[in-house]
Amino acid sequence: MKGVVLAGGLGSRLHPLTKVTNKHLLPVYDRPMIYYPIQTLVNAGIREIMLVTGGNNAGDFLKLLGNGKEFGLHHLDYTYQEGEGGIADALRLAEYFADGEPVCVVLGDNIIEGNIVRATQAFREQKVGAKILLKEVKDPQRFGVPVLNGDRVVKIEEKPKQPRSPYAVTGLYFYDARVFDIIKTLKPSGRGELEITDVNNAYIEARQLTWEVLEGWWTDAGTTASLLQANQLVAQTGANKL
Ligand code: DAU
Repeated sequence: MKGVVLAGGLGSRLHPLTKVTNKHLLPVYDRPMIYYPIQTLVNAGIREIMLVTGGNNAGDFLKLLGNGKEFGLHHLDYTYQEGEGGIADALRLAEYFADGEPVCVVLGDNIIEGNIVRATQAFREQKVGAKILLKEVKDPQRFGVPVLNGDRVVKIEEKPKQPRSPYAVTGLYFYDARVFDIIKTLKPSGRGELEITDVNNAYIEARQLTWEVLEGWWTDAGTTASLLQANQLVAQTGANKL
């Protein structure tokens, strides 16, 4: 399984912090934000990783991360997303890198307390389809929200005004190689982006999506409030614990 960290986009919700630098280079407690999703993949035993970046200061990632030696890697792959076409548009750029293998995708602003070792193993055994990780949150309307029927996710709604469950779809996803064919069929959403929620809904329609609840705390760091929360959580308990 290969790993993909998505760190494109313009980070406009964090202006002016992101006016002259890339959101994923901002500090979260004692490390740049991008360290956390990379560590999540490394802790799950994934050794081949591609970073998709974009926006401002993309060259700084190379200076910061080099070949991934600090994470015990021998090599890191990089690519660049033009503009802000959405999460699925950024993932599309990893097709050549994935080369037919399944992928574990982590959003560059998602930070977790624990690890995804068990879910990674479960997806290796699942072999086909997709797997998402859910987390109960106080403000589901900020996220992709699953609609559940018993223990089946029947649909995911992106930032619904009236969430139909208390869960957020976290930015940690597992896909088989078909994901790149699905992305080719997507149309931009109302906000002009290729949505990862549309990818997940395509897997739901094919009855090939499984889910688990993520253990430990989870947060994004893409707004002023959630960036502060991420700093506090990491300072208090530490992240990416094995
Ligand atoms: O954090 C989890 C949530 O992430 C999910 O619950 C939502 O379903 C999903 O759409 C996403 O929501 P956001 O609106 O918070 O995503 P955002 O635009 O903040 O992008 C999150 C990360 O994805 C960002 O840190 C880098 C990457 N990204 C995003 C865009 C729009 C890219 O690489 N390229 C992009 O064009």
